[in-house]
Amino acid sequence: MIEQFKQDVKNGLSSHPKSLPSKYFYDEIGDELFVQIMNLQEYYLTDCEMEIFSQKTNEIITNLGVQLNTEFDLIELGPGDGTKTIHLLKVLSKQKYNFTYHPVDISNHALDGLEQNLLSEIPKLSISKQQGDYFNILSELKKNNKQKIILFLGSNIGNFVDDKAKEFINTASTFMNPGDSILLGIDLIKPQEIVLPAYSDKQGITAKFNLNLLDRINNELDADFNRENFYHKATYNETEGIARSYIVSKSNQQVTIKKLDLSVEFVEDEKIQTEVSRKYNDEILSKIIKDSQLDVTGKIMDHRGYFADIILTKRNS
Ligand code: AVJ
Repeated sequence: MIEQFKQDVKNGLSSHPKSLPSKYFYDEIGDELFVQIMNLQEYYLTDCEMEIFSQKTNEIITNLGVQLNTEFDLIELGPGDGTKTIHLLKVLSKQKYNFTYHPVDISNHALDGLEQNLLSEIPKLSISKQQGDYFNILSELKKNNKQKIILFLGSNIGNFVDDKAKEFINTASTFMNPGDSILLGIDLIKPQEIVLPAYSDKQGITAKFNLNLLDRINNELDADFNRENFYHKATYNETEGIARSYIVSKSNQQVTIKKLDLSVEFVEDEKIQTEVSRKYNDEILSKIIKDSQLDVTGKIMDHRGYFADIILTKRNS
């Protein structure tokens, strides 16, 4: 893990333009800041998907193609605190569907908290925590031959550039049988006035979240980034539909990263790209699922039409 982190930081900061992978936002402090982001007024994504899960639960269930008399596995990749999924779990349990919920996460800590919460609300829930790599676990679970429903919510796929998103969907599909589905949460392309504030909030929480990456490099790789000498910047282009986050250098400066034996030069206004947040429309979605054997079998939106939960079902080949 630390070796991979070292490699990625070294490569990213030695490239032109500089970049760092967004997956490294999520250390303990980053996790906390992300919870604060989800509660921001500007961060509409969470509210939208929460609305879908709480108000359109039956529509979700109908679209998933699950049957009362057929046992299935409900697998969630990166469940977070489960506050959206709990609505679905409650209705499925109440309607007496026969299923096991498998939340999958790299972090055991997150899974323990989630399990406690869910069991206190739904004591009869059959839950089986899965700690590890998403695809290793999907491959393990495929062996039991039960119908699979895979949740990948929150526009998490938005952090992938299109080639990577396509690869992710294709790989996920290899672990599915005909009739299995993915419920994919995607943020939709819409005007800059709505998107940009979600990534540059007034309180500066997103800025803290982004700049925390520098603290993480300081702490884990013994570096001397001075956060005061950098600032957070977000951009969004509606034609393209991609929000990007950057850490920008305020001046010409040099940073030393001892554990990498590396010093990095920055010129004034030089940017490190730290994140892409892809927004979708039907055309872009079609492109990423094109070779996956998955068809769009449902699309459920919030009342403003900002966000969609898409149901992708594997076809009979
Ligand atoms: C967790 C990837 C969906 O891109 O909207 C929030 C992460 N970054 N604010 C997103 C994030 C800045 C978020 N995702």
